[in-house]
Amino acid sequence: MSGAEGTLRVGIVGCGGIARSHARAYAADPRVEIVAVHDVRPEAAQEFAAELGALACDSLAEMAARDVQLVSVCTPPGTHTDTTVALLEQGTSVLLEKPPTVNLADMDRIARAEAGSPGAVFVVFQHRHGSGAKRAHRLLADGSLGVAQVAVCETLWYRPDSYFDPQWRGNWAGEGGGPTLGHGIHQIDLLLHLLGEWTTLEARACRVARPVEFEDVATASVTFAGGAVASITTSLLSPREVSRIRIDTTAGTLEVDHLYGYTDTDWTWFPVPDAGTAAANGTDPGTARAGGAAATDALETPDVWTASAGEDVPSNHAAQIHDLVGDLLAGRPHPTTLASTRPTMELVTALYASALEGRPVARTDLTPDSPFYRSLDGGLPAQRVTDRMSTTS
Ligand SMILES: NC(=O)c1ccc[n+]([C@@H]2O[C@H](COP(=O)([O-])OP(=O)(O)OC[C@H]3O[C@@H](n4cnc5c(N)ncnc54)[C@H](O)[C@@H]3O)[C@@H](O)[C@H]2O)c1
Repeated sequence: MSGAEGTLRVGIVGCGGIARSHARAYAADPRVEIVAVHDVRPEAAQEFAAELGALACDSLAEMAARDVQLVSVCTPPGTHTDTTVALLEQGTSVLLEKPPTVNLADMDRIARAEAGSPGAVFVVFQHRHGSGAKRAHRLLADGSLGVAQVAVCETLWYRPDSYFDPQWRGNWAGEGGGPTLGHGIHQIDLLLHLLGEWTTLEARACRVARPVEFEDVATASVTFAGGAVASITTSLLSPREVSRIRIDTTAGTLEVDHLYGYTDTDWTWFPVPDAGTAAANGTDPGTARAGGAAATDALETPDVWTASAGEDVPSNHAAQIHDLVGDLLAGRPHPTTLASTRPTMELVTALYASALEGRPVARTDLTPDSPFYRSLDGGLPAQRVTDRMSTTS
């Protein structure tokens, strides 16, 4: 896929906050021409178009008529499906913001439209695209970091009551789901990207403090086909904010600890000390020496994680968009497809199903017959949801 002289002609739909991150990434790439933008608020499109030197279009059809090859969909989650399907029907590829949809039924509707279109759908999960995650993915997949056994996945963020003042926030109709869908999904997606196929889940979703219809804290225990077990916590009540994934393998502990984006320095690897080194240090394998130094720091050769370091690419929109543009122009497959993000949406769906029905959920339970397939509240009466999420009754 390439336009004149090997450039990619792109458009942006939804000219709000995150559209600026897309625009900055495209504008910094000499292989890209930002051709057109569109918003349901014409004044927002005109202002954004003027900033970018692009055309403000009144409709998606007008945008498609400009031979746009890739469109970033940066609209609110509940509008993603109609917008993406319309673009696919015009033959345009889409870079769709997270969460890709607000339920699995919508996701499958997009997948059907994609199957009948020359266009393809890619999803923004920028934390798959920093150099740390790429190394971790490669080294876990080829066994260099051992076999994953235990994992912790935390999105501990803080949003005061006033965050929910906008009319569309804090309710199922406006957001489609709570912070598990809107915030924790970044870490959940990265966890699944690193650990592979998940199989079962048991969860609690609780409303502790915020004026919302859904959870402000959720916890889940998840099993993986490879035998690992992970705990997932998502909170909007955590003043010292952190986004963290920790994976304990047969060979060591891999950890990334950041907030809204990591660099290589946010990743650490703590290898299991070999028996000889541990004995020399007077410790058991896997323990630290007095003073906090790892028992392995006597090793002379760099461990496999340290040895794999290359260019430090932060996890942000620029990283993913750089990868996507390169792949599209070269005719290579780009890995962060719609299909690759379905397990993430399945896990989010299972978390609500488990929490609201009070039972473990298997991934195989999430068929179109499940009430949670069409909406994350399972279509349950509001009072039933309130009761299930209460921590005091
Ligand atoms: N990847 C990330 O780190 C990240 C961060 C923030 C937001 N997001 C996602 O980006 C998306 C947009 O979030 P935002 O914070 O930019 O929202 P926003 O409210 O700032 O902007 C949304 C824009 O879309 C426009 N819009 C609404 N419906 C539309 C429609 N049907 N067609 C065209 N335009 C429409 C609105 O007028 C508004 O200008 C959401 O899906 C959100 O989850 C992702």
